[in-house]
Amino acid sequence: MSSVYEKLQGCLKSVREVTDFQPEIALILGSGLGDYADEIQIEQTVEYTQIEGFPTSTVAGHKGRFVFGYVNDVPVVIMQGRVHYYEGYPMTDVVLPARLMGLLGAKKLILTNAAGGVNPDFKPGDFMMITDHITTGIPSPLIGPNLEELGVRFPDMSEVYNRECCSIIKKEAEKLGIGLQEGVYAQLTGPAYETPAEIRMCRTWGADAVGMSTACEAMAAHHMGIRVCGISCITNMAAGLSSQQLDHKEVQETADRVAVQFKQLISAIVSAI
Ligand code: HPA
Repeated sequence: MSSVYEKLQGCLKSVREVTDFQPEIALILGSGLGDYADEIQIEQTVEYTQIEGFPTSTVAGHKGRFVFGYVNDVPVVIMQGRVHYYEGYPMTDVVLPARLMGLLGAKKLILTNAAGGVNPDFKPGDFMMITDHITTGIPSPLIGPNLEELGVRFPDMSEVYNRECCSIIKKEAEKLGIGLQEGVYAQLTGPAYETPAEIRMCRTWGADAVGMSTACEAMAAHHMGIRVCGISCITNMAAGLSSQQLDHKEVQETADRVAVQFKQLISAIVSAI
């Protein structure tokens, strides 16, 4: 058994000592959405610090716990506060929570994040359904001995973001009257925001949005057969696309401004998916 899989099994055991809750859907909450987990019907919480070997999030404003509960009668597990590669963890630790939620029983994973708009037609406050991603700028979370227990050595990545889930997201956004962009998310390492030249590179690559999370989690979850979907909140235009300098406060402010709509959309998606 590989050490990564052993660690995963250890974490699973820690969580199972606290709860036998069986989630159907897993959610990872990005900036501004963190308090969504406080508003659901909570059955059990597990602090990351209670889980042996679990990477603990260090970003200010990010909580660190799993919330088990119900969204409109659908059993969910929510990762309240994610782990980022820029915090210094190995990529296998960054995706450990996504894998763990899969082992806890989640068949679907809904990913959310804050992202910079690379597509010039986007504006801050837009939502973008992720149709595909680019992970060229980060190490693959699948590097190392393959976890045969989870998936194959050379997994297909031609449909990471499940088409059926995507069409449900579109339908639910339309029903709620929430505008929805679509596009490709490029993950870079951070923690620095990109340079204008890097953003031009991302655009040339085919990206519509850029961020520091999500795609690695999507890849690891897809590897183990979880159906994945994702939505970015475009919190700012990426470097070089506006005259403004980038700072975390702007990201947080935009995310907070549209949080109510974002939460509505997430609840609708959980119920319909
Ligand atoms: N770049 C990278 N990550 C981000 C950005 C950005 O412009 N905005 C929010 N997260």
